[in-house]
Amino acid sequence: MDYQMLGSTGVTVSALGVGGGGPSQLGLRHGGQEADAVRVVRAAIDQGVNFIDTAEAYGTESAVARAIADVPRETVVVSTKISHWEELDEAGVLANIDARLKALGTDYLDICHFHAVTIGKYDHVVQNLLPGLFRAKEQGKLRLAGVTEMFNRDPGHDMLARAVRSDHWDVIMVGYNILNQSARDLIFPDALRRGIGVLDMFAVRLALSRVERLLEVVSALVEQGTITSAAIEEAGGTIYDPLGWVVRESDAESLVEAAYRFVRHEEAVHVTLSGTGNLEHLQENIGTVQKPPLDRDVVLRLQKLFAGVDSISGQ
Ligand SMILES: NC(=O)c1ccc[n+]([C@@H]2O[C@H](COP(=O)([O-])OP(=O)(O)OC[C@H]3O[C@@H](n4cnc5c(N)ncnc54)[C@H](OP(=O)(O)O)[C@@H]3O)[C@@H](O)[C@H]2O)c1
Repeated sequence: MDYQMLGSTGVTVSALGVGGGGPSQLGLRHGGQEADAVRVVRAAIDQGVNFIDTAEAYGTESAVARAIADVPRETVVVSTKISHWEELDEAGVLANIDARLKALGTDYLDICHFHAVTIGKYDHVVQNLLPGLFRAKEQGKLRLAGVTEMFNRDPGHDMLARAVRSDHWDVIMVGYNILNQSARDLIFPDALRRGIGVLDMFAVRLALSRVERLLEVVSALVEQGTITSAAIEEAGGTIYDPLGWVVRESDAESLVEAAYRFVRHEEAVHVTLSGTGNLEHLQENIGTVQKPPLDRDVVLRLQKLFAGVDSISGQ
């Protein structure tokens, strides 16, 4: 496994991170049992993945707790989120941190984020809730303060664009993928300048893992006039097969592999999160992040084709 520093936090992270949410929720959403979810997280850890992301809202904290129970605590980076923060105050944040510690069976969190913050609530979060994370740090219960965006509703990063222009956050979680690359201009330059740790979500999601969903998303972009059929053809595809050329003309074995590699080799991204409940997919994805960047010409064509897209998440 490849490792790097999480921005200037001093924390070393694996290139791939286990995502405990998304459409899979470690398989629990597809009828998997908690024991199966525990096996996925353990298999990842056993192969060198040290980064695990979960949240109050996912229902996967207890699977993560069981998976990390008998590994040395300092060998894993545990990231969770306060999901139901809207009604809290500073004391409520501290109480919620205690609940997260209990759910995860640990005495400190490496990262705690406010989950899916929108621009309209950002000032409330910073003024009234963030002090709770600072107190938790002072008490030794938390190492790093984070914030995540609601990418489906905020695909143009209004909230995170403010967050990365402040010194409040050690870590952010951003949506960035082949289809919506807008974070490269709107978020990454400031994140790099400030040494903010960057976790990527939505690298694949549904549109890049299911062909019928990709066709729907690309057709919608064409209908909106955000991309044109001519641009799709210039890149090497057709409206009926917009990205088949990526696999034909690169060394990637699948579009999923290409999508994870596209994100993993972005300079500002420290952890590419992968949400899966499938051990074979996990295995593939662990191999994928250790492969080199996609061919430069393929990356440039993808950048050109989707350059104007900031209205969809790839859900
Ligand atoms: N606002 C937020 O804070 C927020 C929002 C969304 C996500 N997140 C975090 O980010 C993580 C990553 O997001 P995500 O789960 O949406 O990410 P993702 O890894 O981009 O997409 C997950 C989807 O891809 C499929 N998949 C994964 N590997 C595959 C493979 N090798 N072949 C075919 N399909 C594959 C999964 O299905 P299978 O189960 O069948 O593999 C699942 O449907 C989440 O788990 C969560 O921790 C945070």
